[in-house]
Amino acid sequence: MDWEKVDWKALERLRTAFLDGTAGAQDYWRNENDLESYDQTFGQRILWKWNYVLNELKQRGWSPATAGEVIDWGCGSGIATRSYLDHFGPDPSATFLFWDRSSLAMQYAARKAREAFPDIKVWLERPPERMSGTLLISHALTELADAQLDELLGLAAHATVVIWVEPGTYDASRKLIAVRERLHSVFQVVAPCTHQAACGMLTPENERHWCHHFAPSPPEVFMDGHWARFAKIAGVDLRSLPLSFLVLDKRPAPQTGGIRVIGRPRVYKAHALLLGCDSSGVQDYRQTKREQPDQFRHLKKGKIPTYFTNPGKAPSIPTDKL
Ligand SMILES: C[S@@+](CC[C@H](N)C(=O)[O-])C[C@H]1O[C@@H](n2cnc3c(N)ncnc32)[C@H](O)[C@@H]1O
Repeated sequence: MDWEKVDWKALERLRTAFLDGTAGAQDYWRNENDLESYDQTFGQRILWKWNYVLNELKQRGWSPATAGEVIDWGCGSGIATRSYLDHFGPDPSATFLFWDRSSLAMQYAARKAREAFPDIKVWLERPPERMSGTLLISHALTELADAQLDELLGLAAHATVVIWVEPGTYDASRKLIAVRERLHSVFQVVAPCTHQAACGMLTPENERHWCHHFAPSPPEVFMDGHWARFAKIAGVDLRSLPLSFLVLDKRPAPQTGGIRVIGRPRVYKAHALLLGCDSSGVQDYRQTKREQPDQFRHLKKGKIPTYFTNPGKAPSIPTDKL
């Protein structure tokens, strides 16, 4: 991290644009320093979210599509592609295409990717309408008007793989659920869902819930005054990194089964309630201190399992066994 390069005023302006809903209306990248400041701060937090998603895919034995290009749509500083390359390596046959309404952003993203992975092939252009490869989308959904989203989903329908990461807010999650429902007839849903049925969040009794998860932040951020300053400007809690995500794949995908844990468990003195999702829907599950002492202790310490089998009858599936 090079905090000397961070333009704090630019971060304040960006944060205002993200919050007041004007980010979609006009290009907010004024110069390269905006992108550098974003990349070092907002971008790092987004990187940790991508690491969470891609680690899960790796642990599950999922492998990237080998055919077609990798497109970072609405690339900004290109953090999604760099995380993808970190996890799956630079496939020499792949082309990495950066697309954004801002040509400044496309150039910055390509340069940063080339600095880290000098041998990759990079394109800066509008994605082909009939793309066949992998589409990475990150923190773009809330900036898109309906017609722009329709166009993006038209493109996504031709992809082999779509990996989409958004903030863990109610609004972003609900929009991503709508995307899932529009695309899932042509894809297998790989994650976060454990099933191919309709999203259980869409029933009237689950209207107040949203599908979100928490990525870990590196512990050093809690002891760094620069991060504290960023948290104040951005209005974020450094201890919490909520995200929503969706991974779709046209290739046959092994189903995890089990129940996906959503959000934070509510932990009481002798029991905890976890919101869980499987093909039967989204509902609360109960874990008791008496019946599952180890799992209960983990929950007390804030360790949230990714998946679990019915906590009333069986122990949780540890995330490192996925
Ligand atoms: C919040 S930034 C996220 C950047 C990057 N994907 C990330 O996760 O860090 C949203 C990006 O979407 C781009 N964007 C917004 N509307 C767009 C559109 N209609 N077409 C292409 N890019 C768009 C913006 O220029 C910006 O770079």
